[in-house]
Amino acid sequence: MFTFQVLLLLESIVHLVIALFTIQVPRSVYVVQYDSTVNMTCTFPVAGGLRMKDLKVYWHQISSSQMVEKEIYAVDSGKENLTLQDVSYRGRATLLKDELYKGQAVLEISNVKLTDAGTYRCLIIYGGADYKQVSLQVQASFTKITTWTERTPFSATDVSLSCQSEGFPLPEVFWLSNGLNSNLSPSTSHTMTADGLYNVTSTLQIKPSSSQNYSCVFWNRELEERTMKLFHLADEEPSDLQRSVLLFIVPICLIAIISSSAVVFFLKRKSLCACSKKKMNQETVTDAVSTKHEESCQLNPPT
Ligand SMILES: *[C@@H]1O[C@H](CO)[C@@H](O)[C@H](O)[C@H]1NC(C)=O
Ligand SMILES: *[C@@H]1O[C@H](CO)[C@@H](O)[C@H](O)[C@H]1NC(C)=O
Ligand SMILES: *[C@@H]1O[C@H](CO)[C@@H](O)[C@H](O)[C@H]1NC(C)=O
Ligand SMILES: *[C@@H]1O[C@H](CO)[C@@H](O)[C@H](O)[C@H]1NC(C)=O
Repeated sequence: MFTFQVLLLLESIVHLVIALFTIQVPRSVYVVQYDSTVNMTCTFPVAGGLRMKDLKVYWHQISSSQMVEKEIYAVDSGKENLTLQDVSYRGRATLLKDELYKGQAVLEISNVKLTDAGTYRCLIIYGGADYKQVSLQVQASFTKITTWTERTPFSATDVSLSCQSEGFPLPEVFWLSNGLNSNLSPSTSHTMTADGLYNVTSTLQIKPSSSQNYSCVFWNRELEERTMKLFHLADEEPSDLQRSVLLFIVPICLIAIISSSAVVFFLKRKSLCACSKKKMNQETVTDAVSTKHEESCQLNPPT
């Protein structure tokens, strides 16, 4: 009877100790952009100051696709131990040491990749032991759209407009003419990059006209995200007037400049000759090349 009561008492003490040491997660879901940095946090009680040598912290990733566990970070007796760190996190994952003193085990992952998405588990042993899980979602928006235009060879009017961008998941690409979706039929293709992003290129053939503008739109249904880029055709397609400026006026000006400078050069040499002949008797020979002097030489011949 007595031993039973002791057992009960012991058990409740053990429960109390375990209950005292609990981990909390301020956030259970993190949604971040591809290539950015994420801080995932588990908090634990450090009342009365942190005894570093009693602390063990482990962060693992439980991959959503393969249910494989990867060790990302380990702190044993207050010292980091990266012997078992998964290669895919090498150089990208760290535990923010200063935060440990505040009772926060913050795992910082930089250059977030698509394959980082999944469930993460922090296990902390500090007197007691507890673990919690958080999940990481990675988005790759088609934010940076590269555009270019190409004139179809042997055709004065046909122009192809292209848009290219990288992201995830695969978007729908459509085109707008003057802001309207008017039965344009672009050709869109994609490849996969080494990082698992879709590299999407879309091309639209048009007959350019100054009254129409065009834009390509990347629509990511899953993220409900829309990015677009407008083509400034006026800048890229010279009008007939601009074209005639380029084809005729510019060359004519160039010829005029070249021939007039040739004439000036010729005249200068001639007057220089005449002037120096006149100056033969002069004692002071000043800057003979200066046009001013040549003029003064001709206007006020030495007496
Ligand atoms: C992560 O935490 C570090 C240190 O507190 C801070 O410098 C950094 O800006 C944080 N990064 C993000 C994405 O919150
Ligand atoms: C680091 O962890 C590995 C595997 O758990 C262990 O074999 C090794 O002794 C640890 N190293 C140190 C310095 O604690
Ligand atoms: C493109 O066309 C739309 C519809 O006509 C117009 O609202 C928009 O201002 C135009 N954009 C430019 C840059 O001309
Ligand atoms: C994406 O595709 C474009 C055009 O096909 C190509 O020029 C570019 O190098 C590709 N980028 C990557 C990262 O694969």
